Formats: sequence, structure tokens, C-alpha cells
Amino acid sequence: MSGRGIFITGTDTEVGKTVVACALARSFRAQRFAVGVMKPVASGAHQTPQGLRNADALALIEASGTERPYGDVNPYCFEPAISPHIAAKEAGIEIDCNIIRHHYDALALETDRIVVEGAGGWFAPINDHQTMADVAWALSVPALMVVGVRLGCLSHAQLTRLAIEAHGVSFAGWIGSCVDPGMERAAENLATLEKVLGQPALALLPYAPQALATLVLPQVAERLSRTLTGHTISV
Ligand SMILES: Nc1ncnc2c1ncn2[C@@H]1O[C@H](COP(=O)(O)OP(=O)(O)O)[C@@H](O)[C@H]1O
Ligand SMILES: [Mg+2]
Repeated sequence: MSGRGIFITGTDTEVGKTVVACALARSFRAQRFAVGVMKPVASGAHQTPQGLRNADALALIEASGTERPYGDVNPYCFEPAISPHIAAKEAGIEIDCNIIRHHYDALALETDRIVVEGAGGWFAPINDHQTMADVAWALSVPALMVVGVRLGCLSHAQLTRLAIEAHGVSFAGWIGSCVDPGMERAAENLATLEKVLGQPALALLPYAPQALATLVLPQVAERLSRTLTGHTISV
């Protein structure tokens, strides 16, 4: 089966993963692809008559226009906004990468592109022995790293990139998102990121809260499409 998914990870939580994942979903959709989205594990959700709903998963559903049932997009959803491994344990649930892969494979049968958003950073635990890295690995998809451009990101970006590759997941590049309007020397930090990561960003998002709801990244989507169609999943 040819690869069609991309895993959006980041240097931390609250760095712009959802912003980038939604922008990519909108862009693939604008390019007339059938787009699937997943937020496999989410903690931080509100009760609705239909069950628990997580804001990231809902944003991905809206951006992609998918009509899949909520549970296909977000199979593991927990109410408290705490680490998923703790939330899952409290709920008496074991997060299982095989079940996530099963949902992903079903989605892959019906879609051309799948955007998967991780929870937290690369090594956010999902149970007693696995992290989000194992989810990305189980899906056999490349990881795109979102760097939240704020103080501390130079180390976090290098650590995350190293950890992606150490886990046997292919690195699809990085996007910088300026989440902190008060960040000093932002341009110098971006230049340093490019240097230490050894490659320019696929995109740099300025601090622009009003632009995010409709943001598209067509060039990144096109570039990823070339990578994804050349990527083979072994099943
Ligand atoms: N380029 C940007 N400009 C302004 N605000 C941003 C930008 N990127 C992200 N944000 C804001 O930062 C917060 C975290 O972004 P989000 O995509 O939800 O992060 P994550 O999914 O990594 O937790 C959100 O409030 C989002 O609107
Ligand atoms: Mg998010």
C-alpha cells in the first residue's frame, strides 16, 4: 500500500500542531484530494449528548470536511486535560497502537491523504511502556515537526528531530510557528534553527492569530505529496 499519511508532531504541547495539521488538511482538500484526519489520542475534552469531544479533533474534522464518525477520527478521547497515559489509566483503558493502526488502515482505503496529529510532544507517554513515537511508528508514516518559536525551542527542536530519527521514523521536515508575540530575536532564532536542523523550514508562520482559521499551506502540501507517494508502507 502506498503511504499517504503524515504525522504532525511538535517540540511540545501548544506549539502549533493543530494549526499546521488543519492548514494541511485544508490545502489537500483544496487540491481535490479526499482527506482523512486523525487525532488518535486526545486528553482534554467536553461532554456532549453524543459523547466526549476534543477541540483538536473537531477542528481537524472541520478543516478536512470528512464525514467519518467522530470515533474514527479520535478513537481515544479522555476528559481531563492531563497526560494521556494518566487519563487512560484513570479511565481503565489501555491505549493500543494496533487499534489506532486499524482505524488508520480503514481510513486509508477511502482517502488520498491522511493528516494525523499527535498529542503533546514526541515522547508524550500513552501507556506504561509506549509514547506518541510508537503511534507514529505503528502507522509507518513520516513525521513533520512543528517548532513553536519561543524561548527554549532551539534545544527542543534538536532533541525532537534526533528522537524522531532514533525511533526509526522518517523526518519529513519542520515548520516554525511564531506562537509568542513577545519573542525576542525571533529572526536570529529562526536562522539558528535552520542551521542546527540542517535544512530550511518548509514554512514559517508569523504570529497572526486572525489568519489561523483559514490558513492554507499549498506548497508544503504539494511537497509532502511528492514525499508521501514515494513512501512505501510495509504491512
Ligand atoms: N502562528 C501563530 N500565530 C498566532 N497564534 C498561534 C500561531 N500558531 C499557533 N498559535 C496559537 O497557539 C496556540 C497553540 O496552537 P495549537 O495549534 O493548538 O498547538 P498544539 O496543537 O501544538 O497544542 C493556539 O492558541 C493557537 O491559536
Ligand atoms: Mg493540538
